[in-house]
Amino acid sequence: MDLGLLILIGLGTLIFWLYRINKDYYVLAFFAKRVRTKDGRPIESIAPVPEGRTIFGNSFDLYGRNDAEMFNDMRVRVKQMGRSFIEYVMGTPVYNIIDADNFDLILNDQNLITKGLVYGFLHPALRTGLLTSTDKKWHTRRKMLTPTFHFNILGQFEETFKAESLKFVKQFEGKAETCISLSELIPRFTLNSICETAMGIKLDDMAAKGDRYRESFSMIEKSFIRRMSNPLIWNNTIYNLFGSSEDARFLKEVHDFSSEIIAKRRILLEQVLNEKLSTQAADDDIYINKKQRFAMLDTLILAEKDGLIDHEGICEEVDTLMFEGFDTTSIGLIFGLMNMSLNQDKQELCYQEISEHIADDFNNLDTNQLSKLKYLECFVKETMRLFPSVPIMARQTVRETELANGLILPAGAQITLHVFDLHRNPKYWSDPDEFQPERFLPENSKDRHTYAYMPFSAGQRNCIGQKYAMLEMKTLLIVVLKQFKILPLVDPKEFVFQTGITLRCKNNIKVKLVRRS
Ligand code: HEM
Repeated sequence: MDLGLLILIGLGTLIFWLYRINKDYYVLAFFAKRVRTKDGRPIESIAPVPEGRTIFGNSFDLYGRNDAEMFNDMRVRVKQMGRSFIEYVMGTPVYNIIDADNFDLILNDQNLITKGLVYGFLHPALRTGLLTSTDKKWHTRRKMLTPTFHFNILGQFEETFKAESLKFVKQFEGKAETCISLSELIPRFTLNSICETAMGIKLDDMAAKGDRYRESFSMIEKSFIRRMSNPLIWNNTIYNLFGSSEDARFLKEVHDFSSEIIAKRRILLEQVLNEKLSTQAADDDIYINKKQRFAMLDTLILAEKDGLIDHEGICEEVDTLMFEGFDTTSIGLIFGLMNMSLNQDKQELCYQEISEHIADDFNNLDTNQLSKLKYLECFVKETMRLFPSVPIMARQTVRETELANGLILPAGAQITLHVFDLHRNPKYWSDPDEFQPERFLPENSKDRHTYAYMPFSAGQRNCIGQKYAMLEMKTLLIVVLKQFKILPLVDPKEFVFQTGITLRCKNNIKVKLVRRS
């Protein structure tokens, strides 16, 4: 047979084969296995599939987009689709979720605790700590760390939040009024707070290193976004060969910072344990000993002595807690203080409530008094609705997974939970873009879908630090509000949001503080 004919038959067979398997795989989206439905209905009847920007499905929809365009493109797509939808990206389907029923479904599925593919881009920085690990490792670590967020321990941390908050306002001592950049000052406050509470280390003599840590993490975030937008560098080997040369310096800075903190705490803890031995108080429980401040890191160091974790494991958890613990609360506080400035009437309601319950010298500022500030609670919740620190979460299926809505996701499918869009979904929120803390009063929330509001996620992998975060954020708001009236300096209509690991905004968010007489 002549060669031309052979090639023709070969090509014909290949095209026929591709045509046949295209029913099960989206061939041009790099053989992404298609989502099916249980009863054979077209998947569009459950979840629409938007057309991609190129012939490769949705693989290159984000390609070449900067972080602000990426954020905006997703909002446009969500509006176009109007409900949860499916994309096909570089060999995998992505189920994009913006409705409460599906949040409930996914977050409570015991088989869906494995984080999505993009969390792998965080492994060089956080390795596999509590946020990024899965299965047995995650279970063990979660069990180990849960007691460190116990109510009694948070009560001790409140003292630190108060002290750090007073230090924060001390910066403005002697000034009747001052304009401040929240974007610059708040992250320093939250990093100090997490280091002192969770790590048991005051950053006072490490302030410059703390600033470098934050800057380095922000560079690592840029690499994360670069990878997200370009599926050609999703693969670790390819990325390590061609895309990661810049990262090493920043990773070293971040890891050196956490290592120094661990080393310092090891020495301090050893001293404490020796003192206890010498004062015959060795049987005191380190967690409840009032005289000795407890740090979460101590749990890990003591667990290491029992052979339950090694040094690398401690580093993973310290990096994770430090990052999760400072950046998220920082965003909550920046937008919380900004919302105070933009909503004078609501600021006044918070102030009145605080005046009623909290003494001027903050003597009674403890977890008990904090729980009485109901309107402030609504205010913080509404801030996190409009500006969720974690605007997006992701999971992946480890095996074929049938969902209650009739969709069958293949193994390895990505599930993206768009918290930002859920929180502004008009199905659950009237005037979703309006700032209305009253939405969270019990009488106004009783008929709302429980899963319409998910700032801290839910289910097994919910935020371990949510109570900690609320205490910290409320404490600073109280201390600032007691002493200052907060006036606006920015117009949120001009805000340019950006895709990031957490919620990012291009603008420098500022407020004016005017001392209350
Ligand atoms: C306003 C503040 C905070 C918000 C909005 C927030 C939100 C979240 C969300 C949405 C998740 C789930 C992430 C996912 O599934 O991918 C999460 C997980 C986590 N958060 Fe937070 N967080 C906050 C503060 C904190 C703080 C202060 C800490 C530690 C001190 C912390 C530690 C963690 C950890 C370790 C996880 C992983 C938990 C696990 O998978 O078992 N977070 N957080």
